[in-house]
Amino acid sequence: MSSPATNLTARTVAHSQSEMTEIILPNDTNTLGNLLGGRLMHFIDLTGAMAAYRHSRTHVVTAAMDHIDFIRPVHLGDLLTLKSCVNRAFSSSMEVGVKVWAENTLTSTICHVASAYLVFVAIDKEGRRLKVPELIPETPDEIRRYEGALRRREHREAEVNHRKQAKIESAAQNDAAVLNS
Ligand SMILES: CC(C)(COP(=O)(O)OP(=O)(O)OC[C@H]1O[C@@H](n2cnc3c(N)ncnc32)[C@H](O)[C@@H]1OP(=O)(O)O)[C@@H](O)C(=O)NCCC(=O)NCCS
Repeated sequence: MSSPATNLTARTVAHSQSEMTEIILPNDTNTLGNLLGGRLMHFIDLTGAMAAYRHSRTHVVTAAMDHIDFIRPVHLGDLLTLKSCVNRAFSSSMEVGVKVWAENTLTSTICHVASAYLVFVAIDKEGRRLKVPELIPETPDEIRRYEGALRRREHREAEVNHRKQAKIESAAQNDAAVLNS
């Protein structure tokens, strides 16, 4: 891992808090006039990256986006608000949480429509990983998310190892099939 040009002074969650609001236009929707899932994932990725940039003050890449539940449809003309912050910083990676709400502009009703966790990795211009500052959780909610982030990291690592093992076993089976044919 290369040395960062930025300073590594620990930062609070407030330092990374980010927000984006979009109006849902026809180009964002499917044939029923509902926001496309892929478009929502794009907005989630962007808002997540804003928090990772603010925490690390480096270039970042998305390493993973966890399972997303699309809780309710978002309609043409709705205002979509996304809020993000860093939940925990590790060595070069950061877990970011993003929560999304849709506002019906005619009725002013606001609904929670999706949430997601993403992992961003800090890199320099040559793509070398950089160390990121520690995160200081302050409020009870921030401490809960900080602790949850460690459990989710362990879960992700176990899944990555499981997929790697499955690939190795499948390649070995293919080799055996070729040898026996
Ligand atoms: C993400 C990336 C930088 C990781 O590089 P790597 O050489 O595999 O790095 P390592 O295995 O040493 O892991 C580096 C860090 O990334 C994290 N990481 C790597 N793969 C991960 C995954 N699938 N999920 C979550 N975190 C992951 C590791 O936990 C580690 O974190 P830490 O430094 O805080 O401990 C690399 O895979 C990459 O560049 N991917 C493409 C990113 C991209 O283009 N994103 C947008 C495309 S849609």
